[in-house]
Amino acid sequence: MQLLLHCVALCVVALSVSALWPAPQDMQRGSAPLRLAESFEIRLASGNTVERFSNDASRGLDFAIKRASRHLDDDRLRRLVVDRGQSDRSAVESAPRLAHLDLALLNEDAFSLLDELSRPLGELDESYTLHVTSHSARLLANTTVGLLRGLETFTQLLYFLPAASKEHESQRYIQDTPLLIADRPAFPHRALMLDTSRNFYPVASLLHTLDAMASAKLNVFHWHIVDQQSWPLASSTFPDLAQLGAYSPEEVYWPEDVELVVRRAASLGISVMLEIDMPGHTASVAQAFPDYVACHDKRPWSDYAAEPPAGQLKLGNPDVLAFAERVVRDAAQLSPAALFSTGGDEVNTACYLEDPETAAAMLANSTTLDSLLSTFVHSLHDAVRKESKIPVVWEEMILKHDLGLKNDTIVTVWISSHNVRAVADRGYRLIHAASDYLYLDCGSGAWLGKAPNATSWCDPFKSWQKIYSFDPYEGLEPDQHAQVVGGEALLWSEQSGPENLEPTVWPRAAAAAEVFWTGGSLASGKRNLAEALPRLHDWRYRVVRRGVRAVPLQPHWCALRPGACDLA
Ligand SMILES: *[C@@H]1O[C@H](CO)[C@@H](O)[C@H](O)[C@H]1NC(C)=O
Ligand SMILES: *[C@@H]1O[C@H](CO)[C@@H](O)[C@H](O)[C@H]1NC(C)=O
Ligand SMILES: *[C@@H]1O[C@H](CO)[C@@H](O)[C@H](O)[C@H]1NC(C)=O
Repeated sequence: MQLLLHCVALCVVALSVSALWPAPQDMQRGSAPLRLAESFEIRLASGNTVERFSNDASRGLDFAIKRASRHLDDDRLRRLVVDRGQSDRSAVESAPRLAHLDLALLNEDAFSLLDELSRPLGELDESYTLHVTSHSARLLANTTVGLLRGLETFTQLLYFLPAASKEHESQRYIQDTPLLIADRPAFPHRALMLDTSRNFYPVASLLHTLDAMASAKLNVFHWHIVDQQSWPLASSTFPDLAQLGAYSPEEVYWPEDVELVVRRAASLGISVMLEIDMPGHTASVAQAFPDYVACHDKRPWSDYAAEPPAGQLKLGNPDVLAFAERVVRDAAQLSPAALFSTGGDEVNTACYLEDPETAAAMLANSTTLDSLLSTFVHSLHDAVRKESKIPVVWEEMILKHDLGLKNDTIVTVWISSHNVRAVADRGYRLIHAASDYLYLDCGSGAWLGKAPNATSWCDPFKSWQKIYSFDPYEGLEPDQHAQVVGGEALLWSEQSGPENLEPTVWPRAAAAAEVFWTGGSLASGKRNLAEALPRLHDWRYRVVRRGVRAVPLQPHWCALRPGACDLA
């Protein structure tokens, strides 16, 4: 009897497994299959004529409908079971055929995707409802971005069965209908961060990455575009910055490249949060403006910087400040995103104390380093606010330095998840980026030369399970939960380039995507590794079909036998 009950419980769980990733907030499913008609199409529901959409908006939706239709045609994913869905065949071949998916916007106005993505933080409604019955499918949302999220979900419901013989047709089918999904993200900021300075990524790599992000409903591309080793961002105000600071003329993001990335991101419902990391991590500025940089390439580098080459923008110098403000304003204008990061990690004190100019500025004004730093960062943040954006900083700007930053500032916690509470206690809103859970570059050994036994500073490698076990509310009081804006998976590129970008990022970043889509604490029982694994397999196999080189999670044998490879 015990065994039987156990089996009944398991069977129910097994039946209710859906392949959706990230898991929707609320889903009710029946048990009947449904197949797509040969002529199936995605269309706007009556009353939602293209005229109702402003030109830009309808073009945005057009792109999304084409993308979803392509996935419905090309995913051709067979169910991940030993018989690859063969046993579904008779039920599928007699299932009703669905002719359309109807999309409807619930509110009066349609806005272009770029407009929607420029709304203030938290004011973009990404919710959608998807209702599929034996004869109709309807997707409703308040925004175009909401429709995009729902379209992604719809494509993930589909499985494929090849034709059994010449007389038969192949089938695209949905299991377990009728189906009602009501979904929305827990957090407004669900990002992938990519460093394009240590090693350069061609625009095509970035576009491909954005496309994979959309399949996981990630909605922010945090573009750590410049750093100490190279300055690949072209500037019309300061052309020498990239001309001299990039690795080569071929390794520059020209204005039209950045615009392409921002537009493509928007067409996928993703906003681009640019970061110009200052005042540390700016040695690459010295190629064009040697006078602006303290301790440039000073040795031993480890006394003056976390990585070679050393170099930080001078403090207390009005020309440097005017330059930095202008760089920030120019960069902030490249994307309509609500947030812009001025960085601020790893400011090295020795570099400044030994810099004659910064030291003189301190003496002249009998002031401290933090007060020079405060003037610098406040000025940059005012520049960011002038562009109607919220400034974002790395955690040291709050925890290590006493700068009195305004309370609209959002703090990215990267050094350790243990620092989340301290940031929250200071009253700031925060983005999770903890290296102990969310760094994709850890565990690949050391990249410094002459270090045969060294490991990465943030060992070990963060497995998808480790990332998935992250709790966005860990250590916070209930009344601090509202300070969590979201989180990101991050790839620093000391040992990454276009060659290993996708295998390094996917599918692990998708684990973070579900954490920040579903939100909540682990205590609620929402996140369960055993339940998640078959769904993440499904997502991985599906995006591989979409051309993403996401690495396997397990032997194929295990992927076809959910539970069979669990720890005994
Ligand atoms: C749309 O907005 C309404 C009113 O704010 C809200 O109740 C609903 O959940 C939103 N989303 C969808 C998909 O209806
Ligand atoms: C900042 O502080 C002001 C005054 O206390 C308060 O009204 C506002 O809501 C705070 N803003 C944020 C983003 O916490
Ligand atoms: C590296 O480890 C090996 C084995 O423990 C040791 O023999 C060797 O001296 C180490 N090399 C360095 C440079 O520390």
